[in-house]
Amino acid sequence: MKLRLRIMIAISAVLQACIPSSISAAQSNPPRLELAADSGWKFMLGDPSGAAAPSFADSAWRTVNLPHDWSIESRPEKDSPTGAGEGFFPAGVGWYRKTFSTAGSWQGKRVSVEFDGVYRDATVYLNGHKLGTHPYGYTSFTFDLTPDLNFTGPNVLAVRVDNSAQPNSRWYSGSGIYRHVRVVVVDPTHVAHWGVFVTTPKVSSESATVSIQTKVENESSRSTVVTLETTVYDRAGHEAGKAESVLTVAAGKGTEAAQTIAVASPALWSTASPTLYRAVCQLRKDGKVIDRVETPFGIRSLSWSAETGLLLNGRAVKLVGGSVHHDNGPLGAAAFDRAEERKVELLKAAGYNAVRTAHNPPSPAFLNACDRLGLLVLDEPFDTWKAHKVKFDYGQDFDEWWKRDISSMVLRDRNHPSIIIWGIGNEIPELEVDRGPVIGKQLADQVRLLDATRPLTLAFPGTTTSPNAAAVFSQLDITGYNYNLIPTYALDHARFPERMMLTTESYPAKVFPLWQISQDNPYVLGDLTWTAMDYLGESGIGAWSYGTPAQAKIADQIMGATVNSSTIDKMFLGMANGVDVMAEMAKGASDPATKAAMAIMFHGYPWHAAACGDMDLTGYRKPQSYYRDIVWNGGDRVYATVRLPEPEGQKIIAVGWATYPTLSTWNWPGQEGKDLQVEVYSGTERVRLFLNDKLIGEKPTGREQEFKATFSVPYISGTLKAVGIRGGRVVAESVLTTAGKATGLRVTPDRTVVQADGQDLSFVTVEAVDADGRPEAHADQEVQFSLTGPGVIVAVGNGDGQDDASYQGDKRKLFQGRALVVIRTTQQSGPITVTAKTTGLSDGLATILAKVAEARAELR
Ligand code: GAL
Repeated sequence: MKLRLRIMIAISAVLQACIPSSISAAQSNPPRLELAADSGWKFMLGDPSGAAAPSFADSAWRTVNLPHDWSIESRPEKDSPTGAGEGFFPAGVGWYRKTFSTAGSWQGKRVSVEFDGVYRDATVYLNGHKLGTHPYGYTSFTFDLTPDLNFTGPNVLAVRVDNSAQPNSRWYSGSGIYRHVRVVVVDPTHVAHWGVFVTTPKVSSESATVSIQTKVENESSRSTVVTLETTVYDRAGHEAGKAESVLTVAAGKGTEAAQTIAVASPALWSTASPTLYRAVCQLRKDGKVIDRVETPFGIRSLSWSAETGLLLNGRAVKLVGGSVHHDNGPLGAAAFDRAEERKVELLKAAGYNAVRTAHNPPSPAFLNACDRLGLLVLDEPFDTWKAHKVKFDYGQDFDEWWKRDISSMVLRDRNHPSIIIWGIGNEIPELEVDRGPVIGKQLADQVRLLDATRPLTLAFPGTTTSPNAAAVFSQLDITGYNYNLIPTYALDHARFPERMMLTTESYPAKVFPLWQISQDNPYVLGDLTWTAMDYLGESGIGAWSYGTPAQAKIADQIMGATVNSSTIDKMFLGMANGVDVMAEMAKGASDPATKAAMAIMFHGYPWHAAACGDMDLTGYRKPQSYYRDIVWNGGDRVYATVRLPEPEGQKIIAVGWATYPTLSTWNWPGQEGKDLQVEVYSGTERVRLFLNDKLIGEKPTGREQEFKATFSVPYISGTLKAVGIRGGRVVAESVLTTAGKATGLRVTPDRTVVQADGQDLSFVTVEAVDADGRPEAHADQEVQFSLTGPGVIVAVGNGDGQDDASYQGDKRKLFQGRALVVIRTTQQSGPITVTAKTTGLSDGLATILAKVAEARAELR
């Protein structure tokens, strides 16, 4: 190769690696400019006066990139006012400031800023002028920047976030601008914010009618005539249909266009085949395109009745799912797109077909992933209406804000095919009092005004047939039962035969009976367990503990009393009447039964995570998740796990949200010769269990056996093998082999190629393994991580909800032999090497490639 050519190639490679993954506003001039405003914010924890003023000196503040959660940057603190509910993490007040410049092309345009979510009480200023506030931490909101823009110098967007009034949540909320922000520049005549609504009123495999309602606004001082051209594209990018309308929009007014487009042989959206189409709305004025909005959607039908249950594309679908909170474990509340996508991937892989977004609208990225990957969603707005559950929660904002907040949820989210149910609240105390039906109707009416294509529900643990509760549910489509006792379904069905029922929350261990009841009754739509994934906050509600046999008995009795619906009704009635029930309970309560129940259900500091999820905080599937998948989805699969042995004279107490702890290992030092209880979950007809090739036993594992068998096995090391039998043939196996002494660390990234966009993440698992690569399930050494290349460690964690070490930093103890390190890319491409070290074991190492990312427009 000639030297010159070689130099040119080398230069171009260097340039390629250095190209920033963003382009500035001035470089492109599309009809609608959407600029990511995630990077380069100045942040300060505290409340300095004058911080909204453009001239305020913020150079000493830290620079942060969104999404950002300041609570997770600190460790849980025993005396934090956020308490056990919010996982003891600190909150407070913080300020964010972003300096940016405008481009000449923005002159005469409308410029707005969109926040996907700020927790909580955001006050937004542009150039010192207050644009407004937004109290609720989970709904998206926007402000018009146009009147206050400075075209001759820098602009400063300042956001004060006030999460100081505590407690204000029953779970970990996080603090700050924890979702994306963007600035949008449009022509004065434009498609309104959330102004496109796509529905599919007629759907068959031969054809579908796509209906597109588009709201066009004219913020200029002259009446305008525009052509709205809407084109539907299929997944391959081929045009599938088109419509054109001419609209006259009066000055300062808006108008709405209704278009229908027929799509032949549509590929229907379903959980198995989540095909997405795109509706592209273009506005043309005098032959020039002045706006363009793209809306992904799915072609699917949804219908429902108590006789048929839920029908998706005409076929009955039972919901097998769980609730999730918005946090991403070690990342706190920060809603990175990849973290949200991974959550959906994990749920799908664990056999879930549905998720409930407890108890608030999720990030757009989460819903986009549900659309793409095929996960059904119950989108829920609130945990409270007006009656408080904790002192400073949303109850204080409900009156003033409910309409805007619930509208924000529906308008933002209604084009997602994955959303099949709207919630209007969780465990709402007002269902016990007369104002409940009034508020319920207001909410239901508002949702249906904005979208009448989905059924409505509310989740309630009390008596759903009492007059006020029944009056609320009569206005909804689905009665949501939280933890209801199984006979209630049949009894309630006899009283309300048109009622559709959904287990909106359930104890994790109740998977079988709840699956069975929904299989056998069309009016029971499914079961959404509490919870699919572990979450921060509600410290230790799913944790188990050791106790005496007498304590274990009391625990069972207390649980029985707690789930009794009259106790729940009383508790909610108290809340509806303004009693701070949670504070009373937290104080330790006067009566010993409540006190004992609290001690068993809520484990104190250092517990700071709930521990009830099928997946732990790092996304690792616990054995209970394999059982659930087999009950829900069957299949020729077996899974063997071992119940933790009870020490002499001690019982394992695992009630409520806890499941009896098991560990999928055959390393039980100290148990030699003692009987261990081996659980085998199976979708096959029978299972056989072998220890070191010797048959231990054979048992049926059909529906009657609740798809599982338990064997008592005297422990000796070696290989435990469970095989699943169908029609006399072995069709599946699950093997646990005793691992030798750990010799090294193994490092496994979930993805080895990531985007160098400053947002993408690689979730890297580190495990202690023996010389043959077998994991050592009891290893608990502290591991030190280091990186080279264009990446940063953004979080570390393990599945132990009482390990109160920092989720940030570069080291973490292994828990059950594993830990997680999360790596965030920068905007530089190149290889990132992660190394894990601990004393006595050989280093683990992996390389991840950060690839040059597609350019995205950024506010600078
Ligand atoms: C439910 C509630 C959830 C969660 C769960 C476990 O009653 O709806 O938000 O608190 O209990 O404590």
